[in-house]
Amino acid sequence: MLDYTITTENSAAPETEPQRQQFFIEKCRLYVEDFRIRTGRTPTANIRTFGCQMNERDSEKLRGILAQAGYELTEQEDADLVIYNTCTVRENANLKVYGRLGYLNGLKKKNPLMRIVLCGCMMQEKEVVEKIRKSYPFVDLIFGTHNIWQFAELLCRMHESRSMLVELWESTDQVVEELPAQRTYAFKSGVNIMYGCNNFCTYCIVPYVRGRERSREPKDILREVEALAADGVVEVMLLGQNVNSYGRTLEHPVSFASLLREVEKVEGIQRIRFMTSHPKDLSDELIEVMADSEKICPHLHLPLQSGSSALLHRMNRHYTKESYLALCEKLRARIPELSLTTDIIVGFPGETEEDFQETLDVVRRARYDSAFTFVYSKRTGTPAASYPDQVSEEVVKDRFDRLLALVQETGKEQISRFTGRTMPVLVEHVNTQDPGLVTGRMSNNLIVHFPGDAQLIGTIVPVTLTECKGFYFMGEQTIG
Ligand code: SAH
Ligand code: SF4
Ligand code: F3S
Repeated sequence: MLDYTITTENSAAPETEPQRQQFFIEKCRLYVEDFRIRTGRTPTANIRTFGCQMNERDSEKLRGILAQAGYELTEQEDADLVIYNTCTVRENANLKVYGRLGYLNGLKKKNPLMRIVLCGCMMQEKEVVEKIRKSYPFVDLIFGTHNIWQFAELLCRMHESRSMLVELWESTDQVVEELPAQRTYAFKSGVNIMYGCNNFCTYCIVPYVRGRERSREPKDILREVEALAADGVVEVMLLGQNVNSYGRTLEHPVSFASLLREVEKVEGIQRIRFMTSHPKDLSDELIEVMADSEKICPHLHLPLQSGSSALLHRMNRHYTKESYLALCEKLRARIPELSLTTDIIVGFPGETEEDFQETLDVVRRARYDSAFTFVYSKRTGTPAASYPDQVSEEVVKDRFDRLLALVQETGKEQISRFTGRTMPVLVEHVNTQDPGLVTGRMSNNLIVHFPGDAQLIGTIVPVTLTECKGFYFMGEQTIG
């Protein structure tokens, strides 16, 4: 901590956003400059992101602010500023954070200038913040999901504060746009189209930590996509907890399908993806827009959660096994190339062997390319946490293993349909294991590794899929 305060008057800070945050970014630059004078080096900053694409995108925004403030961003965890952008969707996400905090304390003892910041979904839980205050008093700043755009201002206040600074909002209807972001990839980007969730699936904590559903205005989204395209982005991923209900709460309601039609018109954008689709809200209009589009990727992540209609009812999902399967058939009939992926929870309270068999049955029939499988995790404050008949650990483990085996078997069968075909591939990076290979993604979201070099990154090239390795392919670039 600095032992004096930089004396730009905070009262000079504009009241309106985002100008106010710009003011504080400039003020952060003074702290960075001061650090440099005292130590002879630029302060480093490291952000570690847990959880979903929303958090990834939020971290890009935090990085953008840090870069403008003059910090040197690093992958090393022994940085001068360490930020954990946390997730709390399952208990093991929380445990990982607690596990790392002790280690960070050790680093801080060696570097007294080090500052530790915690933000993200986990911080929106009162018990978590109490626990950190009590057991991890060396943390310098805590903020939540609703006021993440205040990062620059909070960073300045942290430098001026001698004790842990905690700034949490219970909710908000304020969305502050037009702040800088530093993208992980030059050629692709997530774009938030909505925040929060109103669905209250009975197992899920997200609505409690991310607040009520708020959609961004289409014009703001389009302006952001246009700016990204102008900056070399070819692929956008539209982000929301339930994109299919996009636009319903706007003053002038618009459908997700019509937003997609507009995004499609943006020149330079070649691929459009979106996450996540709730099956209950997937409209025929969306299927039509997808089927007719050149740019919307033929991939749909359609979380199943369970194949048992009784369990789906208790999960508050608003669809049945039959309606889910019928939706898959309708999608496949209209979009024959479609790749389907899903999320499945095992061991929801009261899940019987018969319920579980229904899940296996859907996995056999829906023909997923891949599936994320999760063990049910009890989240304090959610309705399901107090349901009787929590399933024993042994039973869950056995079901989880059986589900995983089936998902792997059916996934491999399903994706091997592409073997031998030549597909356009967006090259993402040099292969992490073999520098003679690059790794890219097809429009259906499948991964392929093939011989190539860093020059290919960000370009779309034709690749022949020579060998299916289960969840991914090996290939050869097709020239000419
Ligand atoms: N909004 C998305 C999901 C966000 S959370 C949707 O509705 O599909 C991502 C996944 O985490 C969920 O699809 C679910 O499968 C899983 N998940 C959420 N809460 C969970 C819990 N309490 N235990 C285990 N898995 C959970
Ligand atoms: Fe959670 Fe359900 Fe909302 Fe997805 S739709 S974030 S699973 S409450
Ligand atoms: Fe986790 Fe928050 Fe995403 S709880 S899954 S990071 S919305």
